[in-house]
Amino acid sequence: DPVQAPDFTKCGDAFDVATGAALNAKCCPPLADKIIDYKLPRFDALRMRPAAHKASKEQVAKYELAIKKMRELDTKDPEDPRGFMQQANIHCAYCNGAHDQVGFKDLDIQVHNSWLFFPFHRWYLYFYERILGSLIGDPTFALPFWNWDNPKGMTLPPIFDKEKSPLYDTKRDQELIRSPGVVDLTFSGSTDPLQLVANNLTSIYSEMVRSVSTTTDFMGKPYCAGSSPSPGPGSSENGSHTGIHWWVGTKDPSGPNKFNENMGNFYSAGRDPSFYCHHSNVDRMWTIWREVVKTDVPKDITSVNYLNAEFLFYDENKQLVRVKAGDCYDQRKLGYDYDRVDLPWLNYRP
Ligand code: C2O
Repeated sequence: DPVQAPDFTKCGDAFDVATGAALNAKCCPPLADKIIDYKLPRFDALRMRPAAHKASKEQVAKYELAIKKMRELDTKDPEDPRGFMQQANIHCAYCNGAHDQVGFKDLDIQVHNSWLFFPFHRWYLYFYERILGSLIGDPTFALPFWNWDNPKGMTLPPIFDKEKSPLYDTKRDQELIRSPGVVDLTFSGSTDPLQLVANNLTSIYSEMVRSVSTTTDFMGKPYCAGSSPSPGPGSSENGSHTGIHWWVGTKDPSGPNKFNENMGNFYSAGRDPSFYCHHSNVDRMWTIWREVVKTDVPKDITSVNYLNAEFLFYDENKQLVRVKAGDCYDQRKLGYDYDRVDLPWLNYRP
């Protein structure tokens, strides 16, 4: 059977997945008196997600304003599900053991390290983007993507690195961001920017093409009702996705930041605005795999245990809605798409 949507009334404590240590975090969502099966709304124009390093002044200004308004909701009403911390807590609740599987009180819901990874995060960003758009009254607002698969996007996008900006986060590894400044998707530890770029391109080619011989190699292992959490991640989740989290999150386990906040731990990752921009690119890699990468591997999982897996999210009208993993394959049906940019890794022969 497919994993069912969590029961918010049974939400409990969160803990660190790596160590099992209790986290000083309350991340349960507010309760709703009704849940609606989500119907995709009509739209006039696609939201076109731009590469963050190429976003226009106007796009950046809208993004900053929207995040500022989302942060303001935290003070106006901490229980407003559209607020910045509430949005970050969604990730904590679905990833740090706060939600149990319905019918299996000893099994946590874990949306990482399995085939639920892509659909969960796609729906999560979908609602996040719509909330931002609605806060600034712009139905075409689109979340930029961190284009880390292109050498020009292999640094922290500059829009996140201005201290006064709502997009700033104090808990980042400032050292790596300054020098070498190039992301390290393969955990190589190299400090040579050219070497890092070559490693990154090789590794993206591998996780998108060379190492993928079955659908679940890319998507992640089956995870159904009654399954133990984390059966196994897909190549992209395990590789570039995790690489960016670890590159941004500060690494000082002996200091006050012992859980690698913010980006290096599930429970806090959503507190760094760059998280959603990173995941916009993770989501884009799924789209590219489905639409651009030529291979004999079937692209879509057809098992009902995947298609009917359910999640709950609050939409931009603060309505709690139920969505299915199988309903988000086509981003255009969801009302958004990605600006096309070069894919230098696609024919990368080191
Ligand atoms: Cu839900 Cu990048 O993690």
